[in-house]
Parts: sequence; C-alpha cells; structure tokens
Amino acid sequence: MIADIRPYQAFDLPGMYRVCLRTGASGQDATAQYRDPDLLGHVYAGPYPAADPGLSFVAADEQGVLGYVVATADSHTFDAWLETNWWPPLRHRYPLALAVDPGDGTQDRQRVEQIHTVRPPAPDPLYDRYPAHLHIDILPRGQGTGLGRRLMGVLVGALRERGVRGVHLSVGGANPGARAFYLRLGFTELERHDWGSVMVMDLD
Ligand SMILES: CC(C)(COP(=O)(O)OP(=O)(O)OC[C@H]1O[C@@H](n2cnc3c(N)ncnc32)[C@H](O)[C@@H]1OP(=O)(O)O)[C@@H](O)C(=O)NCCC(=O)NCCS
Repeated sequence: MIADIRPYQAFDLPGMYRVCLRTGASGQDATAQYRDPDLLGHVYAGPYPAADPGLSFVAADEQGVLGYVVATADSHTFDAWLETNWWPPLRHRYPLALAVDPGDGTQDRQRVEQIHTVRPPAPDPLYDRYPAHLHIDILPRGQGTGLGRRLMGVLVGALRERGVRGVHLSVGGANPGARAFYLRLGFTELERHDWGSVMVMDLD
C-alpha cells in the first residue's frame, strides 16, 4: 500500500513517538539508548502539533504511522510557548533529582536535563530570517521511497500559505544521509558546528 500523507490527528501521537524513538540516534534506532521510550518524543515530536496546529503531517500505511514532519511557523513564539505550557508539567513528571545517569550509555538523564533547561528569550537573527523550523522522521521501511520529499512538499506548501519567509533545521554531523537529503531538497548549509549543521531554505 502506498503511504497516505494527511494532517496530524491526536491519535497519531503514540505512533509518532515510536517513529521518533526508532530514528532518534542520528537517524538510527535509539530504543536501546532510552529506559523511558517517551522521552525523545516529548522533546522532538509532541509539542509541535500542540503548539502550532496545522503544521504537522503524518504518513501512514496499513501498519500505522510510517513517518511524520512536525514544524512551527515561528520559533520565537514556539520557544515561549514551550516555557509556559510544555516544559512545566514535564518538569513535574520528570524531576531532575530522580534522573540519575546509570552509566550504561542510556541518555534519559540528558533529555531530562534538556526538559529542565530554561532558555531566556533572546534575539536571534536566524529566527528572524528563517522563523520556521521542523523535524522529519520516517521508519526504515518507508525510507528511500520519496516519502521524505512528499512530506516536505506538503509542509513547505502549508508554510508558504501562511506567508512564512524561511525555514531552518539542525542536522547532526553523524547523520550525513539526512544532510544529503536536505541539500537535495534545496536547503543550504548556513552554519557548520562541531555537532553538525544549521540548514536553511528561503520560502519567499
Ligand atoms: C532523512 C529522511 C527524512 C529522508 O526521507 P526519505 O523518504 O528517505 O527520502 P526520499 O526518498 O524522499 O529522497 C528525496 C531525495 O533525497 C535524496 N536522499 C535521501 N536520502 C539520501 C541519502 N541518505 N543520501 C543521499 N541522498 C539522499 C534522494 O536520493 C532523493 O533524491 P531525488 O528525489 O532527487 O531522487 C529519512 O530517510 C529519515 O527519516 N531518516 C531517519 C531519520 C532522520 O535521519 N531524520 C532527520 C533528522 S535531522
């Protein structure tokens, strides 16, 4: 069956969290890196459809959610929304004091620290020029089939309809396949860091 692409529905969230986990180690399966299978999804998938409805799209087939793209049109507003609405209950759910690093290579402690990190609002020229940002993840069985291109096409169309002037994203240095994908789709590399790259696309 050819995967359908459709706007996110609330019932998609568990499937999206699974995709997030199974692609969360620089594009590879991160299941072994987390004792709590929801932590990655809480950070990288869950907040987007809640904060900015209409900019999350799901690819699904008969087996369920195969992939998704989630985005916000305005990263400044999104960060403020996280600080007011998303992080406080998660900080309560995941107390820092209980997040001990067991020293076995699992990353739960790092994600809980991320949830507890308060980022004061700051002017950011990247956010001004490229206000939107996104995350896209597809399970291995859906990769290399044009689904990533289709999901991005739907998202870019939705961002343009809203008059958003540009979109940025981060890609880790350990994920050269994703970097090649973004370049192929017309993104350019704006910044290179030791951890990876910031890539951008004009939507004007
Ligand atoms: C990265 C990802 C979203 C790409 O989606 P995809 O469905 O596999 O890619 P598509 O089949 O739509 O490919 C689109 C284009 O990108 C190119 N491309 C895709 N993956 C590539 C790779 N690993 N290396 C080189 N080019 C690649 C394709 O050749 C294709 O080019 P064409 O349309 O001009 O022929 C998907 O592989 C994925 O989810 N990977 C795991 C999670 C991940 O890494 N997410 C990104 C985190 S920053």
